[in-house]
Amino acid sequence: MQKSKLIFTVLALFSLGIVGSALLTNQPSVHASEGDKKADGKKSLHDNMEEMGSYFKKVRKGVADPAKNKATLEALAVVQAHSIDAKDERPHIVSHAGPGQRKDLVKAYRKSMIEMNIELLKLELLILDGKNEEAVAKTKEIGKLIKKGHNKFQDDH
Ligand code: HEM
Repeated sequence: MQKSKLIFTVLALFSLGIVGSALLTNQPSVHASEGDKKADGKKSLHDNMEEMGSYFKKVRKGVADPAKNKATLEALAVVQAHSIDAKDERPHIVSHAGPGQRKDLVKAYRKSMIEMNIELLKLELLILDGKNEEAVAKTKEIGKLIKKGHNKFQDDH
């Protein structure tokens, strides 16, 4: 009886240790630097942008063709998900800015990403409604936003 009590106590303490360390390592991260795997399991800005790049290519390729709407919508959903995550990241260029400018730069980046996310949702509406010609025009518009965003916020590291 005494022995089984001891075994129970040891097992209970062991489980507490596992749960405790899991909780500690699960704390949300304050922004990890770009390129890092983040402790909250989310991708870095670099990785999110790479994913957006490859799936936006599929959107561009399929958007004119109503027969491809299902596949285009699926690719667009992936772009949107990564784009929402990327919005809350900190572009690398911020680390080159003076301490007094960093907050404004992060805010400007976030606002540009929000604007683009809105356009990505409008693109979804157009495809859902089968307005492929308008969707092509919207995709071009988004292309211009991407160029503008990269010119302003992307650096050469
Ligand atoms: C669908 C829209 C977009 C796509 C497909 C896209 C795609 C990409 C790609 C392929 C990269 C290169 C990844 C790398 O090697 O670093 C990149 C990087 C970057 N993009 Fe975008 N982008 C989009 C929108 C935007 C917008 C609107 C902004 C700004 C408001 C932006 C800001 C950046 C920044 C700051 C980087 C550098 C990330 C880093 O520090 O590694 N992107 N993007």
